[in-house]
Amino acid sequence: MIDSFGRNIDYLRISVTDRCSLRCTYCMPEEGVEWLPHTEILRYEDLLRICRIFVSLGITKFKLTGGEPLVRKGLADFIRSLRKIDGVQSVTLTTNGVDLKNQLPALLDAGIDGINLSLDTLDAARFAERTRRDCLPQVLEGLNAALAAPGLNLKINCVSMAGAEDDWIALAALARDRALTVRFIELMPIGLGQGGTPCTEAEVSAALERVYGPLTPYDTPLGNGPAHYCSLPDFTGKIGFISAVSHQFCDRCNRVRLTASGYLKTCLQYDVGAALAPLLAEPDDVIRAAIEDAVSRKPVSHQFTNPAPEHREGRIMSQIGG
Ligand code: 5AD
Ligand code: SF4
Repeated sequence: MIDSFGRNIDYLRISVTDRCSLRCTYCMPEEGVEWLPHTEILRYEDLLRICRIFVSLGITKFKLTGGEPLVRKGLADFIRSLRKIDGVQSVTLTTNGVDLKNQLPALLDAGIDGINLSLDTLDAARFAERTRRDCLPQVLEGLNAALAAPGLNLKINCVSMAGAEDDWIALAALARDRALTVRFIELMPIGLGQGGTPCTEAEVSAALERVYGPLTPYDTPLGNGPAHYCSLPDFTGKIGFISAVSHQFCDRCNRVRLTASGYLKTCLQYDVGAALAPLLAEPDDVIRAAIEDAVSRKPVSHQFTNPAPEHREGRIMSQIGG
């Protein structure tokens, strides 16, 4: 699908649940949020139907997110069915890693193409503080299991917050001898992220360069998402940056998002798009037309630096899926 600004939309992020096993301070309040009732969460068979329609419109890559996608039962079977749709090139997953070790064999068997593990620190006390749950050991077991899976495309995503230099340095070190990518994400002012103290890419890269030497951007761009990648001297793996605030990348945006209740969101920051769930009783053509219409109205960019943007998103990140 080409939108009205000439961007090719070929990537859909699907939040399969709004529930999560952690309570990251920049994402969810301590007491949690009122979960969607089960009846409002799209059933897998409806999701697969919607995905087939997206594929017929040119979506080839899917990312499953949450909340935490691994808390939803039957995810591996859903992945297997999605992977089988003609035209699907990749199905990947973002996870907090808490249940990754248990589920990894089933995910690999279902044909998962890649895993993004959200991990902000390797320090157990800071992990517990950041996520309000004491589960770093389980997450590290998941990480080790994923590292041992041959050919699995593994990325670690760290949301960089003020004062966490030691965490960035320790996380980057994971890429020294391993073929994995460690990416640093600027905190976006969405939901509870509006309250945190963000750090820019420049601060993270300066901290890494002090310890590891110069970051050298790759000559050719890697991947087709918003991240850009660098190498560090003697590192096997890569360092990436997703800098939505300091380096706006909306002109290259290739994605739309589907919430667990079936709302098609066309921009992270705006509550604009189309409610697809009420259309499930209609024929495919009606759903297809609603998707095309929403994509044709996809906003030109976010306005993270504008204190009063129009149509501001009221959902928090766990309800959107990142
Ligand atoms: N800004 C940037 N990333 C965020 N995430 C959650 N909230 C925010 C925010 N406000 C990240 C999580 C996870 C991914 C799904 O989204 O850490 O890596
Ligand atoms: Fe859960 Fe991810 Fe939100 Fe943390 S950031 S509470 S892991 S959904």
